Amino acid sequence: MRILLLTRSFNSLTQRLFVELAARGHEVSVEFDIADSVTEEAARLFAPDVIVAPFMKRAIPEIVWRNHVCLVVHPGPMGDRGPSALDWAILDGAHEWGVTVLQAEAEMDAGPVWASVNFPLRAASKSSLYRNEVTDAAVTAVLVALERVQSGTYVPRRVAGRARPLMQQDARRIDWARDDTDTVLRKIRAADGAPGVRDELFGESCYLFDAGEVTPSPASAGEGRGEGVAAAPGAIVARSGDGILRATRDGAVRIGHCKHVDQDDAFKLPVALAFPAQHAALPESAAKGDDIRYEEHGVVGVLHFSFYNGAMSTAQCERLLAAYEQALARPTRALVLAGGPDFFSNGIHLNAIEAAASPADESMRNIEAIDDVCRAIIEATDRLTVAALQGNAGAGGCFLAFACDEVWARCGVLLNPHYKNMGNLYGSEYWTYTLPRRVKHGAPRAVMEHRLPVGASQAQSIGLIDAVIDADRASFMEAVIARAQSLTNDASFASRIAAKRERRARDEADKPLARYREEELERMRRNFYGFDPSYHYARAHFVRKVPHAWTPRHLAVHRELSGPRSK
Ligand code: COA
Repeated sequence: MRILLLTRSFNSLTQRLFVELAARGHEVSVEFDIADSVTEEAARLFAPDVIVAPFMKRAIPEIVWRNHVCLVVHPGPMGDRGPSALDWAILDGAHEWGVTVLQAEAEMDAGPVWASVNFPLRAASKSSLYRNEVTDAAVTAVLVALERVQSGTYVPRRVAGRARPLMQQDARRIDWARDDTDTVLRKIRAADGAPGVRDELFGESCYLFDAGEVTPSPASAGEGRGEGVAAAPGAIVARSGDGILRATRDGAVRIGHCKHVDQDDAFKLPVALAFPAQHAALPESAAKGDDIRYEEHGVVGVLHFSFYNGAMSTAQCERLLAAYEQALARPTRALVLAGGPDFFSNGIHLNAIEAAASPADESMRNIEAIDDVCRAIIEATDRLTVAALQGNAGAGGCFLAFACDEVWARCGVLLNPHYKNMGNLYGSEYWTYTLPRRVKHGAPRAVMEHRLPVGASQAQSIGLIDAVIDADRASFMEAVIARAQSLTNDASFASRIAAKRERRARDEADKPLARYREEELERMRRNFYGFDPSYHYARAHFVRKVPHAWTPRHLAVHRELSGPRSK
């Protein structure tokens, strides 16, 4: 079928649908929902069989839904209506939620239903649920709906609905004196990644994000409910990593990120960067932040690094390198780099860079720091290194994974193995060394120029990754560990490691890693300090979520088509 994806942005759900539909042989094009006239023009140019709208904030123009079957993906179960579906579900503590594909009509979310899929609602942030359960359910529901449309006989069902309003800050507000820890967590999670919960930090109005439970430290565990209990509810009692601990009426929560309300141009930052002096003056919490965690399963070590949004600042890269070196000191045969449950990595931390006194200097420091991690991985010749992608990877985060000997991804994971969307960045992370080793058929350039997401199976078929593991979130890491154990137990393991060591030595003699790095960084210096400010503009827009003014040409295939097309 010819399918037009009409969407507010090319977000993770839209990317996943794009990849899944293209893999099934559909002809897919994308148009951003910018203005009615643009949508109408796209429908005219592409003449789609179906329009799928995965992520919309406005109604589809009447002339379009009257002339085309328009399938809207609503992140709520059958009968649920309104623009804050997941927010209400999390706030209300629902146990089950769903995704419904319905036909666009005049009233939003009220059209007949083509398909609906339910799932258990995990205690997690809105964005984590959206990237995982909602996306998986949406793919299933859209595929069922398309089959039904194609059958020509299916009659979509009208169902009675319950419309819920846009959630306002009034409903999100935390009443620190009354709300228990669980309620505070639900309120912040229901608003994360956007719009956050409006509150105060250090006397200034802020939106709060990235709330976590506080596991009592061994020292405070004996006191019952842990740190913060003695403090007034709402009080900031300590710092924990880049975040803070705030007392609740029955414990404490950790808050990692915030955004100033009253500063023009504000964007989301770790609390330590938004309030450096106040954060530094706080006592260090006994309950350690656990964004980096190491565990061992026999001869297999697993290093988890779960950074908010997969963004890796200079300091985070440095901490990761230290943890990685400690892990290498252990007598294991394989080391698995597991990233985080939602993202493997998205490369250098663009928000931290934007907040720096000199974004160019901070970009350079950050890229050097992530390069140091990559080099340490490439140079580990005494054991097998594996990147286990539980979640998506983008830009430098992909190339961090490619530094490992093997890359295994959970099915459904997306990779964006290119830098160009960020103002034509050249990229580093030793990609000029690792990519040609993976992409066998002489097309590493094509991968970089492509600018499109690649699904796990497609990534495997072009040699970007080595395996796709068909497991759900809960069982993926177990499957990874079992696979790594069986590789290390294989009779050929010792010779495999010996061959790896020899190959590294040969490669180093041919062209030292230092030279690859210097050549990449020479190009990056031009991106950071040169005459062309594209990267700085792109980054400034990205962190402030400036909406696109047009759909990029590589997505809007229909705009490249000339003349009338026959179906
Ligand atoms: N630095 C800081 N924040 C980042 C980030 C990065 N490198 N990559 C992603 N994020 C943030 C986004 O701003 C967004 O924040 P929010 O929670 O406040 O909304 C969140 O992570 C999720 O990103 P989003 O773009 O909504 O996710 P997606 O799955 O739709 O798209 C990418 C994934 C990787 C395509 C996209 O995030 C991207 O292009 N990131 C930049 C990658 C990059 O250029 N890195 C620098 C070069 S190494």
